[in-house]
Amino acid sequence: MKLVPMKKLMDAAYEGKYAVPAFNCASLEMIQCVLQTAAKLRSPVILGIHPVEVAYFGSAAVPVAIAKTVGADLDIEVAIHLDHGDSEKSVMGAIRGGFSSVMYDGSHLPIDQNVENSRRVVEIAHAVGVTVEGEIGTIGNTDEFGNKLENAHLSDPDWAERLANTGIDCLAVAIGNAHGFYAEEPRLRFDLVEEIRRRIKIPMVLHGGTGIPYDQVQRAITMGVAKMNVGTALRYAFVKAAKDTCDREPTKDLPLMTIGTAGIAAGAEVVQQYMEMTMSAGRLR
Ligand code: 13P
Repeated sequence: MKLVPMKKLMDAAYEGKYAVPAFNCASLEMIQCVLQTAAKLRSPVILGIHPVEVAYFGSAAVPVAIAKTVGADLDIEVAIHLDHGDSEKSVMGAIRGGFSSVMYDGSHLPIDQNVENSRRVVEIAHAVGVTVEGEIGTIGNTDEFGNKLENAHLSDPDWAERLANTGIDCLAVAIGNAHGFYAEEPRLRFDLVEEIRRRIKIPMVLHGGTGIPYDQVQRAITMGVAKMNVGTALRYAFVKAAKDTCDREPTKDLPLMTIGTAGIAAGAEVVQQYMEMTMSAGRLR
């Protein structure tokens, strides 16, 4: 396995008109599932690790060590990326732990502050060859059950341009996408994507990948999206497989390995589906 800066994977995708999927991972089994499926499908891939997931692992160095060990004999290119870094402290922790990419999410701050903080993160991260993703507008959340939470703000193209000028390598856009299961089918704002694309020269990132219809993903990719984040679908596959496995044998003490193995198999189907949807499958030479 080659651990590479995320920019390397994204630039090839931007050029080749596909997107690299970033899967949120919170366990050894999830990392095994994603890396093994990437090897099987010859796909570049990004492990997205959220600060909450970093905390669960114990430190940023842990998922890096797991990925390097699991991937040691796999012929793949992988970026390990901090998803929604919420402070400069969490960004620095990820860099120190060996991540090859960080997101600094200052989207909740006033624009001047987001620009200033992002510029500082770029200066430090780029000095050590680490990629930086920024965010403008706020990608909303739905809760685990699909109820919309009122916290989304669409990206402002002027602000997108200002943030892109900080030197970030890619920009997460809020264009009608949301984290979690969608309560109803999303309709991405392609007019806004077009307007932003005209103003910036860097790839866009589509968060909230779970549940965005195939045709909208494909269209977004033709318009400059080169990375798509997927969290909920993979998490759900693991949890459902674990629950189904336990339900089938309610009276038996199951080895944890049986549950983990079922999760990996179910998760691999999700990973494959998104690698095909983003057209990253088969892109590794
Ligand atoms: P979903 O959980 O909706 O797939 O979104 C994941 C994400 O965007 C992580 O940043």
